[in-house]
This record gives sequence, C-alpha cells and structure tokens, in this order.
Amino acid sequence: MKQPDSNRPFVLSPRFQSLRWQILGYSLAIMIGISAISIILVYQYFAHSLYQQVNERLKVLADSAAHSLEAIKKDKNALINPPIRRLDGDGDLDLSWQNLQQSGQSIEWFDQDQKFLGKSGKLNFSSPLILGEQTLSGKPPIQLLTITVYNNKHSQGQDINASETYIVGYIRVAESTEHIHANLQRLLWGFSIGNLLTLGLIGFGGIILTRQALKPLAKSYEQLQQFTGDASHELRSPLTAIKTSVEVLHSHPERIHPQDWEKLTNILSATEQMKHLVEDLLLLARTDNDLDFMAQDIVNIPLEDLLDDVLLSLEPQAEQKAINVKVHYFQSVIVQGNAFQLQRLFSNLLNNAIKYTPSEGQIKITLQQEEKKAIIQIEDSGIGISAEQLPFIFDRFWRAESARTPQIKGTGLGLAIAESIVQAHEGKITVKSQLNKGSCFTVYLPITTHFQE
Ligand SMILES: Nc1ncnc2c1ncn2[C@@H]1O[C@H](COP(=O)(O)OP(=O)(O)OP(=O)(O)O)[C@@H](O)[C@H]1O
Ligand SMILES: [Mg+2]
Repeated sequence: MKQPDSNRPFVLSPRFQSLRWQILGYSLAIMIGISAISIILVYQYFAHSLYQQVNERLKVLADSAAHSLEAIKKDKNALINPPIRRLDGDGDLDLSWQNLQQSGQSIEWFDQDQKFLGKSGKLNFSSPLILGEQTLSGKPPIQLLTITVYNNKHSQGQDINASETYIVGYIRVAESTEHIHANLQRLLWGFSIGNLLTLGLIGFGGIILTRQALKPLAKSYEQLQQFTGDASHELRSPLTAIKTSVEVLHSHPERIHPQDWEKLTNILSATEQMKHLVEDLLLLARTDNDLDFMAQDIVNIPLEDLLDDVLLSLEPQAEQKAINVKVHYFQSVIVQGNAFQLQRLFSNLLNNAIKYTPSEGQIKITLQQEEKKAIIQIEDSGIGISAEQLPFIFDRFWRAESARTPQIKGTGLGLAIAESIVQAHEGKITVKSQLNKGSCFTVYLPITTHFQE
C-alpha cells in the first residue's frame, strides 16, 4: 500500500487551489463593495457639511449686505463710501458686509424690479436671478444665494405683515467653491489610495490565511481519497479471486445442489456488481489525484468505430426493452484519447439512456464536428430529470428518486465517472432534460494533438 510521505511539503491540489482563489475573490469583492460604499458615504457627508458652511457664510453676508440696499438705491456711490452701520437690533449679526466679504465672494444689489444696481467682488458668472440657493458648475464652480429684502425685514420666507410690507430689492451673494472641490478631490484620492493599500494588504493576508485554513481540509480530503484508492485497490484481488471461483462453480451446474443454484447465481451477480463498483471507485480516486493518468495510453480514435462498438455491446439490452436506437454520424471524426476510458464514457451514457427509457422508447446518437470540437449527443425519450435535480446528477452516489426502484439497478457513479473522463480529455459534458419527456447528454471533445502518443 502507498504510504504518504510525511517529509514532503504540502501542496494544495488544483481543486483546493481553485476553491482558495474563489474564497479570496469573493472576500475581496465584498471588501471592495464595502469600501466603495464607505468612500461614497464619507465623501457625501463631507461635501454636504462643507457646502452647508458655504451657505451659512453666504446667508450672513447677504443679511449684512441687505442693510445697504436702500442707500445704494438712492446713491450708487454708497457702494464706494458706505454709510456707517449702526446696531439696529433686528436679530442678525450687525457687521458691515465690507468686514465680512472675503476674496472669492461677490455681492450684487438689485432693486425691486430686479434691475442691477451694483456689485462688489471679482467673481464672474452669468445667471438669471433665482431666489434661494443655487449651484453653478462652471469654472470656477460657484454657490449662489439670493434673498428678497423687505422694508422692515430682509429675508425671504419670514412672517411679514402684508399691508405694511413691500419689497425693497434683492441681494445675490456668491462664493467660488473651487477650494471645496479641490479638498474633496484630495479626500477622494486619499481614501481611494488608502483603501487600495488596505485591500492589497487584505489580499496578501488572505493568500496566507486561505492556505492555512484550507490546509487541514485539503489534507483530510487527500487522506480520504488515498483511503478510497487504496481500499479499492486492495479489494480488487480478493474480489477477482471470489469472482473466478464462483464462475468456475457456476459453470458446473451438475456439482451444485439444485437448492443452492439460485444462491450461487445471486452471489455471482453481487460479486460482479461489487467488482464494477470497486473499479469505478478506483478510477475516481485516480482521476482525483491525477487527471493526467489517462494520458498514458493516448491513441487516435475514430469516434464512429468507438460508438459502434459501444452500441454493439449494449444492443441486447436495448432489444430486450424493444428500444429503437437510431444513429446519425454527420461525418467521420477522429479524436485523440484513451480508447478504454472513452468507451467507458459513452457506455455509461448509453447504458443510462437504455436504463431510464421505458420499453419501446427511442434513443438517438449523433456525431458531428464543429470547428475543433467533436460533438456527440445521446438523446432518449425516457423518464427525464426535473430541473431541480439536474444540478446534482454528476455528484457521486446521487440517484434521482424516480431511479431508485428495484428494477433499475445502479450505484450513482456512472455520470461522475463520465464527467471525470471528459475532463481528463479537456472536454465538456452538458445535459438538457425534461421530466417524463427525455434527456439529451452532449459531450464536447477537443480535436487537438495535446496528448503525446
Ligand atoms: N438518461 C437519463 N434519463 C433519466 N435520468 C437519468 C439519465 N441518466 C442519468 N439519470 C439520473 O442520474 C442519476 C445518476 O446517474 P448515474 O449514471 O451516475 O448513476 P446510475 O445510473 O444510477 O448508476 P451507475 O453508477 O450504475 O451508472 C441516475 O440515478 C438517474 O436518476
Ligand atoms: Mg448510470
């Protein structure tokens, strides 16, 4: 029996490697999603609070500038020589607009007919007078605020006694938000680079972590495979001995007591089934360990001849159920592969088609070539497989409820083996099926010179 070498460094099998990359990929995708959402939320929060600060500043400036509107209406020189501002007790900040205005801000005064009266500040923009807050996305981007000035109160939306109140004019204040844009851009870059670095570190950590996490799992899986392989291998010889002995006994009915004849026939049939099962398990254990093991006996195989051989061996079963098997070879196709295994593959598929098709049903086998692919289809008019069960049919030991009857014998390994053989030949197997209508298995085999003869 093969003993595992405890000194050899542990290498994850391709199956676990791909699982490892899948876990890593999913966790990174989730992390990217989370960091993208957090970047957007933080960006939105900062942008909102920075713009709110601008609007607050503009409101104070507009309120302050409103006090000069009457004076500017009377004399435009009031812009250059502003009147002295006094405490008026109207509840707002009693600072003159000259003290409040910063570079990058401008103030415009309009009369009650929205006629332009004057401007302070160098910001250039053109926009119709619109009450309230406004954002201009030019160069530079500008935030605007326009308020209505009344004779006794100077803000829009306040509760005003209508009979004594009239509009004096409008004030529009503006501020360039270029600095905010620049800050937000910096924030975005900082966050993105920070997150990228974090993701890189998480990815790097993930490579080590996933390996460590999968190692015990992969080891026990490998041990299980080793056990299955070894057990099947060890069972082979005694089983062959039993089978040979029973066959010899069976070939001499005169030596057997008539009461024991049936028992002996059952032993022979059970031994054959067991041998079949052991062979299947051994093949699966081998393909699990090394997909290339089939590459040893690679030859050119004319698929027509191979399919004819398979059909010939299963014809008696089909005839027994009066199943009509039609064959349609569109052209001769030669593939490179392991003849014994390919025979096993199509034998499993055709065997299923016969097994799961009621008497007097139909089976159609087609062979054709498309570009660099051989396409073999085995279609039956049998019991079919429901859409919910279809994803499981290639699983080991899986059998549909409808197939588990005493009349239909099977272990549930046939399709798992078929899939392994197809994969070892770098091909693909697909299935389409409808319950109570039939199934169609399609095998795609590459026509390459990949294997060395
Ligand atoms: N042509 C088919 N029509 C309907 N059901 C099918 C067909 N082929 C496979 N199945 C379903 O898929 C299951 C798995 O098939 P598979 O060939 O692996 O096992 P099995 O035929 O039950 O046993 P064995 O290992 O002897 O082949 C079957 O039990 C059956 O339920
Ligand atoms: Mg089968």
